[in-house]
Amino acid sequence: TAGRTLAAMTDATGAPIYLDHAATAWPKAEGLGAVVAEAAEGPMGNPGRSPHAFAERSHRMLDDARTAAAQALGLEGEAWRIAFTSGCTEAANGAIRGVAEGLRLGGVERPKLVCSEGEHHAVRRAVCGLEHAGLAHVAWVRPAPDGSISTDAVAEAIGPGADLVCVQHASNVTAAIHDIEAIGRLAHDHGALLLADAAQTAGLLAIDLSSMPIDLLACSGHKSWRGPTGVGLLALGPRFDQRGRWTTSRGSFTLAPWRLGGAEGSSEPTAMPPELPARFEAGTPNLPGVAGLGHAIRHCPATARRNDADALAHERALRQRLRQGLQGIDGVRLLGPADPAACTGVQSFVLEGWPCQEVAAALTASFGVAVRAGFHCAPGACEAVGAPDGCVRASFGPDTREDEVDVLIRAVRELVGVPA
Ligand code: ALA
Repeated sequence: TAGRTLAAMTDATGAPIYLDHAATAWPKAEGLGAVVAEAAEGPMGNPGRSPHAFAERSHRMLDDARTAAAQALGLEGEAWRIAFTSGCTEAANGAIRGVAEGLRLGGVERPKLVCSEGEHHAVRRAVCGLEHAGLAHVAWVRPAPDGSISTDAVAEAIGPGADLVCVQHASNVTAAIHDIEAIGRLAHDHGALLLADAAQTAGLLAIDLSSMPIDLLACSGHKSWRGPTGVGLLALGPRFDQRGRWTTSRGSFTLAPWRLGGAEGSSEPTAMPPELPARFEAGTPNLPGVAGLGHAIRHCPATARRNDADALAHERALRQRLRQGLQGIDGVRLLGPADPAACTGVQSFVLEGWPCQEVAAALTASFGVAVRAGFHCAPGACEAVGAPDGCVRASFGPDTREDEVDVLIRAVRELVGVPA
């Protein structure tokens, strides 16, 4: 019977109702395709390598994107604090490995890391990799049953001191926005740096590294910034100098590069150049990606000074609409905080007794609704909210309409056998 409703429920063009913005935003920033194509087709040289106009043009393109990112994150005039990466995963991996290696080279053999169990694989696997290799010890923080991370739990894990605290700005499973400022202050008071995974928030919430106690910010380019995939960035806060050095009660250390190779600047044969950003940008850059990201950032309302208030309010209202539509239905369990003000526009749920992948497959095949199901690369977050076998996740963007959310509500009601 579900199949009967497909024609009635998909959009008039037959396109799916796209409710998977936390995986990647769609549609992308206006004009993105032309910018990416221009950078891909050229004329473009290899930036910083050769003394001709094509190479200078590419260099300017990189610089422009770096300036846009720095302005958006409260680092105006200090674009060197932005290192472009292949995405948020490389940025988070690089930050974790770079800090641990920097500490080791500075004489701290086994640094202490504090990490939430709800972290995305990009952070958690990097932390576990160091732990398993005996290169760090880790104090884990369990999220609360609604997915939030309490500052008290982080304080307990830090204990008398730590070297690095890793936490998502907002969860890609539960939607909970974590109190990154309180956690950052706590980290700083106890000698630690703070790494914030902003995959779900850059381009949606205001992030100002000049005033927020964030030292390393890992960002994805293709989510709320609505840039292309395959590009992201690591932004370094004011505790780092232009050579990547930071100082805590433990001493002075230098962030180690995680990728080695050719870069703009010195040709010293045995080590990366000391200056940022070249130190962290080995190899020919992804110019189409970086140029596209710069364009997308410039067209995104969320900056260091303000949230994308319209998008945030819109996504929260849609989340609330979905919760109200599914609340109280037998066999449907909604995950994450109930308070919209504590959340982004993500709503995960479980249909009791149904494998979540089957639910997502039925939603797309029979109702034309595109959602994600599974562990969302964050099994610890699923477990914390009582979904150890994973969950279905709907996530909204600035263009998502109320009637699209209503289709999802009707589809779920039909799947669990509630009359329309
Ligand atoms: N990390 C992305 C997600 O949550 C891909 O879906």
